[in-house]
Amino acid sequence: MATMADVARSAGVSVATVSHVLNGTRPVLPHTRQAVLDAMEELGYTPNTLARSLVTSRTRSIGLAVSAISNPYFTEILQGVEAAALEHGYSLLIADPHDDPEHERKVAQLLHERRVDGMIVAPSADPGELLSYLGRHKVPTVLLDRVVDAPADGSTRFDQVCADSAEPMAELVTHLAGLGHRRIGLVAGLPGLSTTAERLAGYRHGLAGAGLAHDERLVVHGDSESAGAEQATAALLSLASPPTALVTANNAMTMGALRALRDHGLSVPDDIALCCFDDFAWADLFSPRLTAIAQPSRDIGAQAVRVLLDRLDSPERPARTVRLPCAFVHRTSCGCPEQPNRPGRSARRTVPARPVRSEGAIESPPADSPEQPLPSVKGTVS
Ligand code: HPA
Repeated sequence: MATMADVARSAGVSVATVSHVLNGTRPVLPHTRQAVLDAMEELGYTPNTLARSLVTSRTRSIGLAVSAISNPYFTEILQGVEAAALEHGYSLLIADPHDDPEHERKVAQLLHERRVDGMIVAPSADPGELLSYLGRHKVPTVLLDRVVDAPADGSTRFDQVCADSAEPMAELVTHLAGLGHRRIGLVAGLPGLSTTAERLAGYRHGLAGAGLAHDERLVVHGDSESAGAEQATAALLSLASPPTALVTANNAMTMGALRALRDHGLSVPDDIALCCFDDFAWADLFSPRLTAIAQPSRDIGAQAVRVLLDRLDSPERPARTVRLPCAFVHRTSCGCPEQPNRPGRSARRTVPARPVRSEGAIESPPADSPEQPLPSVKGTVS
């Protein structure tokens, strides 16, 4: 296998010059640079990144630990992380912690032992061990999707990137209340996840804003997955006064709820209206088409990489939480009539009804927005 010394000899330059061409550490005259590149090509030289890592103590790799990679929401996050990492010359090591507290700690340890430069992690509902491992070993980390509160003793704070969950959920409830619904059920996610708590808070906020009383019986937990949601929805439907409208708090639970509605012989929206958190590729193929909240999943992934790279550049900077706005996608499962001349999935009202919290830096809009640009990404330092 050709070495840097072979390349240097063949190009008639020093090994240091080859190194500068490879790493961009110093300007090299164009014809010298071309001679080095030609020699590399001719000899089939490929840089040994392991050897470079020994010198720099950096591997230019990022560890990504997210559960349920098969869920389209997380698949899109993964795409965003991958594209942004590649753009900045980083490769990814991916692990699935299965939303299991013990497993996620082990996964973090494995990635750390591979000396990734930093990690992006979607923590489980019980992330104590994970966070103390990452804090103890001072692993530069961005928490993704599920945010955690700062510990009371102010010890380790992590950078975090997530979607704004509460406002969009409130918007769904407000929309249904505006259509005359008074009994709006919620199929909520797994207790312990910040997304579950925020969506529940948004649901309550939406009810209060519409002057509706909060009835505990109308909230069931589908545990963030389809089977749980199917059971939970069935329980809601068997109430003496079942809801006339339903909100599901993620894509997998929408599937479960739809199964339960079908098994009860109910039709949407005539028998019961439905609004969902999470838009996905086939949400407008259902009949009726699903009114949904679209999360900026690719942007969440890309933003997590940017925040991590900022952390690697400035280890002492204060930790920040970046919340990205979601979009209300108005279709027909809520009971509204079909819009004339609707352009399919791109029929999105992408501006959130209420602005997201916007203390701190306002960052530039993401480059890979959907059909219409999303509003500016607003960084919230908290
Ligand atoms: N968090 C946020 N949104 C989601 C999730 C999740 O875990 N799963 C599906 N949509």
